[in-house]
Amino acid sequence: MPGCEQHAARLAARLAPRAVIHAELREFPDGEIYVRVDGHAADAVIVSSLRAQDFLPLAFVAGGARDAGARRIGLIAPYLGYLRHDAAFRDGEAITARHFARLVSSTVDWLATVDPHLHRLGSLSEVYTIPTAVARAAPAIAQYLKTHYRDVVVVGPDAESAQWVQAVAEQCGAPSIILAKTRRGDRDVSVTLPPPEILRGRTPIIVDDIISTGRTMIEATKVVRAAGGEPPVCIAIHPVFADAAVEALRSAGARAVISCNTLNHSTNQICVADALAEAAMSLHQHDDDHHDQRG
Ligand code: R5P
Repeated sequence: MPGCEQHAARLAARLAPRAVIHAELREFPDGEIYVRVDGHAADAVIVSSLRAQDFLPLAFVAGGARDAGARRIGLIAPYLGYLRHDAAFRDGEAITARHFARLVSSTVDWLATVDPHLHRLGSLSEVYTIPTAVARAAPAIAQYLKTHYRDVVVVGPDAESAQWVQAVAEQCGAPSIILAKTRRGDRDVSVTLPPPEILRGRTPIIVDDIISTGRTMIEATKVVRAAGGEPPVCIAIHPVFADAAVEALRSAGARAVISCNTLNHSTNQICVADALAEAAMSLHQHDDDHHDQRG
Protein backbone atom coordinates (compact mmCIF):
# COMPACT_ATOMS: atom_id res chain seq x y z
CA MET A 1 0.00 0.00 0.00
CA PRO A 2 1.20 3.58 -0.58
CA GLY A 3 3.47 4.59 2.29
CA CYS A 4 4.40 0.99 3.04
CA GLU A 5 6.80 0.47 0.11
CA GLN A 6 9.91 0.33 2.29
CA HIS A 7 8.31 -2.12 4.67
CA ALA A 8 7.06 -4.25 1.78
CA ALA A 9 10.58 -4.33 0.30
CA ARG A 10 12.17 -5.25 3.64
CA LEU A 11 9.57 -7.94 4.26
CA ALA A 12 9.84 -9.23 0.70
CA ALA A 13 13.57 -9.70 1.22
CA ARG A 14 12.71 -12.03 4.09
CA LEU A 15 9.52 -13.70 2.80
CA ALA A 16 10.72 -14.20 -0.81
CA PRO A 17 7.40 -13.71 -2.63
CA ARG A 18 6.98 -14.26 -6.38
CA ALA A 19 6.35 -10.55 -6.93
CA VAL A 20 5.88 -7.27 -5.11
CA ILE A 21 2.98 -5.27 -6.51
CA HIS A 22 2.43 -1.61 -5.69
CA ALA A 23 -1.29 -0.99 -5.47
CA GLU A 24 -2.37 2.10 -7.36
CA LEU A 25 -4.68 4.39 -5.44
CA ARG A 26 -5.90 7.88 -6.18
CA GLU A 27 -8.76 10.08 -5.14
CA PHE A 28 -11.51 11.18 -7.48
CA PRO A 29 -12.50 14.87 -7.20
CA ASP A 30 -15.38 13.93 -4.91
CA GLY A 31 -13.08 12.07 -2.51
CA GLU A 32 -13.99 8.54 -3.60
CA ILE A 33 -11.03 6.21 -4.13
CA TYR A 34 -9.81 4.66 -7.38
CA VAL A 35 -7.94 1.36 -6.85
CA ARG A 36 -5.98 -0.81 -9.26
CA VAL A 37 -4.05 -3.97 -8.37
CA ASP A 38 -1.90 -4.80 -11.40
CA GLY A 39 -1.05 -8.44 -10.90
CA HIS A 40 -2.61 -11.58 -9.56
CA ALA A 41 -1.76 -14.31 -7.09
CA ALA A 42 -3.78 -17.03 -5.42
CA ASP A 43 -1.97 -16.20 -2.20
CA ALA A 44 -1.57 -12.49 -1.53
CA VAL A 45 -0.17 -10.52 1.39
CA ILE A 46 -1.03 -6.84 1.83
CA VAL A 47 1.34 -4.61 3.81
CA SER A 48 -0.58 -1.72 5.32
CA SER A 49 -0.57 -0.02 8.67
CA LEU A 50 -4.09 0.58 9.88
CA ARG A 51 -4.63 4.10 11.17
CA ALA A 52 -8.13 5.56 11.15
CA GLN A 53 -8.03 6.48 7.46
CA ASP A 54 -6.44 3.27 6.13
CA PHE A 55 -9.25 0.73 6.34
CA LEU A 56 -11.30 1.62 3.26
CA PRO A 57 -8.26 1.64 0.91
CA LEU A 58 -7.25 -1.73 2.40
CA ALA A 59 -10.73 -3.14 1.84
CA PHE A 60 -10.72 -1.99 -1.79
CA VAL A 61 -7.24 -3.39 -2.47
CA ALA A 62 -8.23 -6.71 -0.88
CA GLY A 63 -11.39 -6.67 -3.01
CA GLY A 64 -9.30 -5.96 -6.12
CA ALA A 65 -6.94 -8.81 -5.26
CA ARG A 66 -9.87 -11.20 -4.81
CA ASP A 67 -11.38 -10.03 -8.13
CA ALA A 68 -8.00 -10.92 -9.67
CA GLY A 69 -8.12 -14.44 -8.23
CA ALA A 70 -6.66 -14.27 -4.72
CA ARG A 71 -8.08 -17.08 -2.61
CA ARG A 72 -6.14 -16.20 0.53
CA ILE A 73 -5.14 -12.73 1.64
CA GLY A 74 -2.93 -12.01 4.62
CA LEU A 75 -2.49 -8.59 6.17
CA ILE A 76 0.82 -7.46 7.61
CA ALA A 77 -0.09 -4.34 9.58
CA PRO A 78 2.95 -2.95 11.40
CA TYR A 79 0.55 -0.65 13.28
CA LEU A 80 -2.96 -1.84 14.10
CA GLY A 81 -5.24 0.98 15.18
CA TYR A 82 -8.64 1.09 16.85
CA LEU A 83 -7.65 -0.95 19.88
CA ARG A 84 -7.74 1.70 22.60
CA HIS A 85 -11.51 1.96 22.82
CA ASP A 86 -11.98 -1.58 24.11
CA ALA A 87 -14.80 -0.92 26.58
CA ALA A 88 -17.84 1.33 26.91
CA PHE A 89 -17.23 3.94 29.58
CA ARG A 90 -20.56 5.69 29.09
CA ASP A 91 -23.96 4.45 27.94
CA GLY A 92 -24.19 4.35 24.16
CA GLU A 93 -20.46 4.34 23.43
CA ALA A 94 -19.45 2.05 20.54
CA ILE A 95 -16.68 -0.38 21.47
CA THR A 96 -14.78 0.45 18.32
CA ALA A 97 -12.03 -2.13 18.98
CA ARG A 98 -14.64 -4.85 18.50
CA HIS A 99 -16.36 -3.30 15.47
CA PHE A 100 -13.10 -2.50 13.69
CA ALA A 101 -11.86 -6.05 14.32
CA ARG A 102 -15.05 -7.41 12.75
CA LEU A 103 -14.49 -5.28 9.64
CA VAL A 104 -10.85 -6.33 9.27
CA SER A 105 -11.73 -9.99 9.94
CA SER A 106 -14.26 -9.91 7.12
CA THR A 107 -11.72 -8.39 4.71
CA VAL A 108 -8.56 -10.53 5.09
CA ASP A 109 -7.82 -14.12 6.10
CA TRP A 110 -4.98 -13.62 8.57
CA LEU A 111 -3.25 -10.75 10.33
CA ALA A 112 0.24 -10.15 11.66
CA THR A 113 1.02 -6.99 13.59
CA VAL A 114 3.49 -5.46 16.05
CA ASP A 115 2.60 -5.06 19.75
CA PRO A 116 -1.10 -4.27 19.51
CA HIS A 117 -2.48 -2.06 22.29
CA LEU A 118 -4.01 -4.78 24.45
CA HIS A 119 -5.16 -3.26 27.70
CA ARG A 120 -8.45 -4.71 28.86
CA LEU A 121 -8.36 -7.28 26.03
CA GLY A 122 -6.29 -10.36 26.87
CA SER A 123 -5.50 -11.16 23.23
CA LEU A 124 -6.48 -10.17 19.70
CA SER A 125 -8.57 -13.33 19.41
CA GLU A 126 -11.10 -11.78 21.81
CA VAL A 127 -12.15 -9.45 19.00
CA TYR A 128 -10.55 -10.80 15.79
CA THR A 129 -12.08 -13.94 14.30
CA ILE A 130 -9.18 -14.61 11.87
CA PRO A 131 -5.80 -16.15 12.83
CA THR A 132 -3.48 -13.47 14.21
CA ALA A 133 0.20 -13.31 15.17
CA VAL A 134 1.97 -10.66 17.22
CA ALA A 135 5.54 -9.52 16.65
CA ARG A 136 7.36 -8.04 19.64
CA ALA A 137 9.34 -4.82 19.36
CA ALA A 138 11.11 -5.33 22.72
CA PRO A 139 14.11 -7.33 21.33
CA ALA A 140 14.83 -4.67 18.68
CA ILE A 141 14.43 -1.85 21.25
CA ALA A 142 16.69 -3.64 23.75
CA GLN A 143 19.30 -4.23 21.05
CA TYR A 144 19.16 -0.56 20.09
CA LEU A 145 19.62 0.51 23.72
CA LYS A 146 22.50 -1.89 24.30
CA THR A 147 24.24 -0.47 21.23
CA HIS A 148 23.69 3.23 22.02
CA TYR A 149 23.37 3.70 25.81
CA ARG A 150 24.95 2.41 29.00
CA ASP A 151 23.48 2.24 32.52
CA VAL A 152 19.85 2.83 31.67
CA VAL A 153 16.67 2.69 33.72
CA VAL A 154 13.53 1.91 31.73
CA VAL A 155 10.49 3.99 32.71
CA GLY A 156 6.87 3.22 31.88
CA PRO A 157 4.52 6.21 31.94
CA ASP A 158 1.41 4.20 32.86
CA ALA A 159 0.19 0.77 33.95
CA GLU A 160 -0.45 -0.44 30.39
CA SER A 161 3.16 0.21 29.43
CA ALA A 162 4.41 -2.40 31.94
CA GLN A 163 4.23 -5.20 29.34
CA TRP A 164 6.66 -3.39 26.98
CA VAL A 165 8.80 -1.75 29.66
CA GLN A 166 9.46 -4.95 31.61
CA ALA A 167 10.37 -6.91 28.47
CA VAL A 168 12.81 -4.20 27.33
CA ALA A 169 14.34 -3.85 30.83
CA GLU A 170 14.78 -7.62 31.21
CA GLN A 171 16.45 -7.93 27.82
CA CYS A 172 18.80 -5.01 28.68
CA GLY A 173 19.48 -6.27 32.20
CA ALA A 174 18.32 -2.86 33.47
CA PRO A 175 16.00 -1.79 36.31
CA SER A 176 12.53 -0.47 35.50
CA ILE A 177 9.83 1.63 37.10
CA ILE A 178 6.18 1.99 36.14
CA LEU A 179 4.48 5.33 36.87
CA ALA A 180 0.76 5.93 37.30
CA LYS A 181 -1.12 8.08 34.78
CA THR A 182 -4.42 9.88 35.15
CA ARG A 183 -6.10 10.92 31.92
CA ARG A 184 -8.76 13.60 32.22
CA GLY A 185 -9.11 14.31 28.50
CA ASP A 186 -7.45 13.71 25.10
CA ARG A 187 -4.75 16.27 25.87
CA ASP A 188 -5.01 16.44 29.66
CA VAL A 189 -2.95 13.83 31.54
CA SER A 190 -0.82 13.76 34.68
CA VAL A 191 1.84 11.24 35.72
CA THR A 192 3.14 10.44 39.21
CA LEU A 193 6.68 11.34 40.28
CA PRO A 194 9.23 8.47 40.14
CA PRO A 195 11.39 7.75 43.22
CA PRO A 196 14.63 9.77 42.70
CA GLU A 197 16.93 6.94 43.84
CA ILE A 198 16.10 4.66 40.88
CA LEU A 199 17.08 7.43 38.44
CA ARG A 200 20.42 8.23 40.06
CA GLY A 201 23.44 7.65 37.77
CA ARG A 202 21.34 6.19 34.95
CA THR A 203 19.93 7.42 31.64
CA PRO A 204 16.13 7.26 31.86
CA ILE A 205 14.52 5.56 28.85
CA ILE A 206 10.76 6.16 28.73
CA VAL A 207 9.04 3.47 26.65
CA ASP A 208 5.41 3.50 25.55
CA ASP A 209 3.58 1.69 22.78
CA ILE A 210 1.99 4.78 21.22
CA ILE A 211 2.83 8.48 21.08
CA SER A 212 -0.27 10.22 19.79
CA THR A 213 -0.69 13.79 21.10
CA GLY A 214 2.52 13.27 23.08
CA ARG A 215 0.92 14.39 26.33
CA THR A 216 1.72 11.10 28.12
CA MET A 217 5.42 11.25 27.13
CA ILE A 218 5.65 14.99 27.85
CA GLU A 219 4.26 14.57 31.37
CA ALA A 220 6.50 11.53 31.98
CA THR A 221 9.51 13.53 30.78
CA LYS A 222 8.63 16.39 33.11
CA VAL A 223 8.28 14.17 36.18
CA VAL A 224 11.56 12.38 35.44
CA ARG A 225 13.29 15.75 35.26
CA ALA A 226 11.43 17.00 38.36
CA ALA A 227 12.67 13.93 40.28
CA GLY A 228 16.26 14.85 39.42
CA GLY A 229 16.67 12.43 36.50
CA GLU A 230 18.88 13.07 33.47
CA PRO A 231 17.12 14.21 30.27
CA PRO A 232 15.27 11.04 29.20
CA VAL A 233 15.27 9.22 25.88
CA CYS A 234 11.64 8.76 24.74
CA ILE A 235 10.89 5.64 22.70
CA ALA A 236 7.58 4.80 21.02
CA ILE A 237 6.78 1.52 19.31
CA HIS A 238 4.11 3.24 17.20
CA PRO A 239 4.87 6.86 16.23
CA VAL A 240 1.30 7.97 15.56
CA PHE A 241 2.15 11.62 16.36
CA ALA A 242 -1.26 13.22 16.02
CA ASP A 243 0.13 16.62 17.08
CA ALA A 244 3.52 18.28 16.61
CA ALA A 245 4.76 16.44 19.68
CA VAL A 246 8.46 16.04 18.91
CA GLU A 247 9.34 19.69 19.52
CA ALA A 248 7.10 19.79 22.59
CA LEU A 249 8.88 16.72 23.96
CA ARG A 250 12.28 18.29 23.39
CA SER A 251 11.11 21.50 25.08
CA ALA A 252 9.89 19.41 28.03
CA GLY A 253 13.46 18.10 28.46
CA ALA A 254 13.74 14.95 26.32
CA ARG A 255 17.26 14.15 25.20
CA ALA A 256 16.06 12.19 22.15
CA VAL A 257 12.78 11.00 20.61
CA ILE A 258 13.05 7.62 18.91
CA SER A 259 10.55 5.24 17.35
CA CYS A 260 10.16 1.86 15.72
CA ASN A 261 9.30 1.92 12.02
CA THR A 262 5.72 0.67 12.31
CA LEU A 263 4.61 4.00 10.83
CA ASN A 264 6.82 6.26 8.72
CA HIS A 265 8.16 9.12 10.83
CA SER A 266 11.32 11.19 11.08
CA THR A 267 12.01 9.59 14.50
CA ASN A 268 12.21 6.01 13.06
CA GLN A 269 15.46 4.40 14.19
CA ILE A 270 14.48 0.89 15.24
CA CYS A 271 13.51 -1.67 12.58
CA VAL A 272 10.91 -4.30 13.46
CA ALA A 273 10.85 -5.99 10.03
CA ASP A 274 12.57 -9.18 11.25
CA ALA A 275 10.04 -9.81 14.03
CA LEU A 276 7.14 -8.93 11.75
CA ALA A 277 8.33 -11.25 8.97
CA GLU A 278 8.70 -14.05 11.53
CA ALA A 279 5.16 -13.49 12.83
CA ALA A 280 3.78 -13.42 9.29
CA MET A 281 5.65 -16.61 8.37
CA SER A 282 4.14 -18.43 11.35
CA LEU A 283 0.64 -17.76 10.00
CA HIS A 284 1.54 -18.31 6.37
CA GLN A 285 3.12 -21.64 7.24
CA HIS A 286 0.16 -22.54 9.43
CA ASP A 287 -2.18 -21.76 6.54
CA ASP A 288 -0.10 -23.88 4.15
CA ASP A 289 -0.29 -26.81 6.57
CA HIS A 290 -4.02 -26.31 6.85
CA HIS A 291 -4.40 -26.29 3.07
CA ASP A 292 -2.21 -29.38 2.76
CA GLN A 293 -4.39 -31.23 5.27
CA ARG A 294 -7.49 -30.36 3.30
CA GLY A 295 -5.71 -31.61 0.18
C1 R5P B 1 -2.47 4.49 26.10
O1 R5P B 1 -2.60 3.92 27.15
C2 R5P B 1 -1.25 4.34 25.27
O2 R5P B 1 -0.43 3.34 25.77
C3 R5P B 1 -0.47 5.64 25.18
O3 R5P B 1 0.01 5.98 26.46
C4 R5P B 1 -1.34 6.74 24.66
O4 R5P B 1 -2.01 6.35 23.50
C5 R5P B 1 -0.50 7.97 24.36
O5 R5P B 1 -1.36 8.98 23.92
P1 R5P B 1 -0.90 10.49 23.98
O6 R5P B 1 0.39 10.61 23.24
O7 R5P B 1 -2.03 11.22 23.27
O8 R5P B 1 -0.80 10.89 25.40
